[in-house]
Amino acid sequence: MTNAEYRNHTHYIAEGWSEEPKESFKELLGIVRAEAPSASSILDVGCATGELLGFLSSQLPSTKCSGVDVTDDLLIAARRNLPAAEFVNASALDLPERFTETFDLTCAIGCMSIFDETQIAAFWSNLFRVTRPGGLIVVLSPLNEFGIDAMIRHRKRPGGRAAQWETGWNVFSKETIDEIVEANGSSLQLKRFQIAIDLKPKDDPIRTWTIKTESRDRQLTNGLKLLVDHYFMIARKA
Ligand SMILES: C[S@@+](CC[C@H](N)C(=O)[O-])C[C@H]1O[C@@H](n2cnc3c(N)ncnc32)[C@H](O)[C@@H]1O
Repeated sequence: MTNAEYRNHTHYIAEGWSEEPKESFKELLGIVRAEAPSASSILDVGCATGELLGFLSSQLPSTKCSGVDVTDDLLIAARRNLPAAEFVNASALDLPERFTETFDLTCAIGCMSIFDETQIAAFWSNLFRVTRPGGLIVVLSPLNEFGIDAMIRHRKRPGGRAAQWETGWNVFSKETIDEIVEANGSSLQLKRFQIAIDLKPKDDPIRTWTIKTESRDRQLTNGLKLLVDHYFMIARKA
């Protein structure tokens, strides 16, 4: 099977940070205030240009912020945007040894669905390793509620030509993530993320937008023709 990589990151640089914090960031802040109010060190895995850390540090002053991503162009923009934070080029599947048991709060927003069935256990064990005992892990990603793990590769056809295969929309079942979190000595708490604003389709059909359905005013979907239901996955390191 052809290898599929995550490639859809250029809009983070082209568009810069949003004027209004993203809805998911605001909801994450609520979780942090409730579950980890005294967190003083935060790691954001898959941090792109540092937008989440920028938001969290504005709301939780005197927190020490670190971010990792695998794309240098994103990290260069992140360092410019938020000079007080540390940004490191590292994969979620191989976080630096020096991060072991360091962070009060470890987040990964919109990044878990990049990884497939051969990588997902390593993704979670890295998050657990870098979080200090008693610390909190919060992951936001689509989940499947029907007991199905769906590994999805897609490619675009710009100008009618087939581009390379991409990853980014794998959808794991709640049960699979539950098992992995339990294997790391913790238990999974789920909180459904219900977006509170309408999103319009963008030029890039991979990016999500909202549609009205019989059961929901705002169902997220995208050009892969997926119905996307995001969940916050919350786990405390033992
Ligand atoms: C959908 S974006 C989410 C960005 C940001 N967390 C947000 O919510 O706006 C996924 C991010 O994961 C990064 N990424 C891709 N592969 C990764 C890996 N192996 N380890 C860490 N980050 C990765 C991408 O470069 C991209 O910045």
